[in-house]
Order: sequence, then structure tokens, then C-alpha cells
Amino acid sequence: MPASPENVEVQAAAKEAALEFKDGRYRDKDGHPTPVVTKDYKVDWATWQGFRRYHDACHVCHGPNALGSTFAPSLADSLKTMDYETFYGTVVGGRVREAGGTTYVMPAFGEDKNIMCYLDDIYTYIKARSLNAEGKGGMPPGRPNGREDISAEAKKRCRVRRLRYSKPLCMRGRPLGPVFGAKKSLKSLENITVSSF
Ligand code: HEC
Repeated sequence: MPASPENVEVQAAAKEAALEFKDGRYRDKDGHPTPVVTKDYKVDWATWQGFRRYHDACHVCHGPNALGSTFAPSLADSLKTMDYETFYGTVVGGRVREAGGTTYVMPAFGEDKNIMCYLDDIYTYIKARSLNAEGKGGMPPGRPNGREDISAEAKKRCRVRRLRYSKPLCMRGRPLGPVFGAKKSLKSLENITVSSF
């Protein structure tokens, strides 16, 4: 079967940006998930998936298109400076802050398999929005214009994640940097049972 035009375009853009495709997604030289966005805003599978998941799970507080709300910050702005590990640790462990008599709560999602298994996709989408906010390409607000078909490798990863595990497989092999000082949440992750997803 001939490759779809989207696949050809996205893969050419990834090659131009010298991105590696590993473990089901494109990565930068540090191995961090990285979006691929073509000139006419077609995206890789992870960015597409992240777009959908972000709008399911995060947009209620962080606003559509990752642009923020009166209550929670614009994550497109946050990722201009925040690194992958800090982002990851914040979502795992959550955060509570008191300011001017208001309590701002970022929930801890470390035990929510529906978030954790797709967090790299969500990160990838927000990164695409962040690059756009910085004027470095990325993705403008709205839906992507198209997407790369899911690759065999990405498909396999999805299937693996949906199987039943006594431990969330998607948490294995995570980089445990200092921000994973959200250790308590990580520890509790070791004991949770992923029953169905
Ligand atoms: C119930 C509302 C709510 C939901 C849902 C939510 N967040 Fe948050 N989030 C917040 C608030 C409020 C803050 C700011 C906390 C503070 O002021 O310290 C925050 C902060 C963050 C930060 C730190 C930003 C920075 O610049 O320091 C990240 C990263 C983040 N959220 C990611 C996510 C992701 C990813 C999702 C979806 C999986 C999500 N959040 C869902 C309320 C929410």
C-alpha cells in the first residue's frame, strides 16, 4: 500500500529536523518527546493524540489551546522554559498554592492511568503549542490539518498499554530526575493495579 501524503510530509519534516523515531514517538537529541508539525500544520500521531487528550483532561482548567484561564496558567507559556522532567513531575505529584486568599490546586494525576499512559502525547501537543507561542513554528490554535497514520511501532505501544497489567507498563523506564522528588506519588504507583483501559 502506498504511504499516505500525510505520512510522507510528516516524515520528511521529522527528517529535516533530525528527529529520531524511538519507542513509538519522535524524540529530540535528549530523548524527550518532540512534536513534528509540517508547514501546513499536519502533525505526527503523538501530537494528534495529545491534542485530543489535552482537550479531554486539561482544558477544563488550562483553557482551550493550552492558553490558560483565570484559574490555571497557560501551559503553552510554561513549556517555553519548563523542561520535560519538571512538567512530568508536576502532573504526577500535583501542586497546591495559596495566593491572596485563593487556593490554586493542580491535581496529582500520578495514579490516573488514563492520563499517565498518554502524558507523553499530551506533553508533545503542548510543546507544539509552546513552540508556536515562541514563534518557532509549532502548532497554531485549533485542530491539526491532518496527521501521520499511526505507525506499526506506535500501534504496538498503544495495544500494550491497553492490555491488563499488574503494574502500569507505561511508567517503566521513566527518567527519575530530581523533580521526581514527587517520590511519594511514584511509590504509590508501584502498587496500583491497572484493571482496564
Ligand atoms: C482542576 C483544574 C486543573 C486540571 C484539570 C489540570 N490542571 Fe494543571 N494546574 C492547575 C492549576 C490551578 C495550576 C497552577 C498551580 C499553581 O498556581 O501553583 C496548574 C499547574 C500546572 C502545571 C505547572 C505550570 C507552571 O507553569 O508552573 C503543569 C505542567 C500542569 N498544570 C499540567 C497539567 C496537565 C498536563 C493537565 C491535564 C492532564 C492539567 N494540568 C490539568 C489546575 C489544573
